Amino acid sequence: MRVTASAPGKVILSGEHAVVYGFPALVAAVNKRCQFTFEGENNSAFNSEFISKYSSLKQLFKAWKNLPTTKEFSLDSQIPVGRGLGSSAACSVAVSAIIQQLSKQSINLEFINNMAYKLEVLQHGKPSGVDNTIATYGGFLWFRRESPELSIRQTIVTAKKIDSLYLVDSGKPAESTKDLVMGVAERRQANSQPSEQIFRQIEETTRGFLRWMQGQESNLVELIRINHRSLVDLGVVGEKAQQIVQTIEKAGGAAKITGAGGVVKGSGFLLAYHPDSEKLRAIVDNIDLKLDQLQLGGEGVKLHE
Ligand code: PMV
Repeated sequence: MRVTASAPGKVILSGEHAVVYGFPALVAAVNKRCQFTFEGENNSAFNSEFISKYSSLKQLFKAWKNLPTTKEFSLDSQIPVGRGLGSSAACSVAVSAIIQQLSKQSINLEFINNMAYKLEVLQHGKPSGVDNTIATYGGFLWFRRESPELSIRQTIVTAKKIDSLYLVDSGKPAESTKDLVMGVAERRQANSQPSEQIFRQIEETTRGFLRWMQGQESNLVELIRINHRSLVDLGVVGEKAQQIVQTIEKAGGAAKITGAGGVVKGSGFLLAYHPDSEKLRAIVDNIDLKLDQLQLGGEGVKLHE
């Protein structure tokens, strides 16, 4: 039996970190995917309990690869690891789709999403679930975690084609998503008032992004700039990324992190925008970085023939 499944990475347009505390996030699937192929005997152990035996994604992959009944278990991912593009969630979703297929259940996105969330918990401790949800369903989503057991998601139909957003790599973060989320939690616990204020500001910006996507608001530069300031105030954006953002802002554009960020070294990929894309390209060239055009709203998890 041979099964191949893939799922997309993501960018959070607005709402990262705040989403962990029940505030909304607007998120989009990107045109970079994680693909897994399994070939071998279908083992009755491949069911929803299978993943509970392992304490990390890596351990599960290794154990699966080494089963005597496995001929091939290979990964082919276009999503850079640990840089805010939802690589672990996309891989968790693709693997969950393979497990579901092997357990002979018909494709059920809810099931895949729930299983992938459990894998994300192994990886990140207390994830909001936004990354695995977008990797499962694709497109553009409004997502909010209401309680540990309940999250809501709504597909957003955009008023226009969104093709003017770019990625700029600010470098690999030294910290994991788990470390960064824990840092925010510790600061919030020590002094809850400022964090709540920042989260509320982020929510306002997220609602602004929604209006922008629906064609009701035009100032994307301002929205991204405000969002960036909130994330700096939250303490998740490092010096290097702040400098890149400052250079882009000085030239009339805007940029922000796309995921958990990073403080000590890089902050992962930045989502960058300038009303004149050629100008953005020139600025980024000038600081010896690469600009990568994004296609947003890609397809969610899928099985390949
Ligand atoms: O950096 P990533 O791709 O793992 O994204 C993390 C997003 C956070 O909001 C910071 C955490 C979460 O669980 O939602």
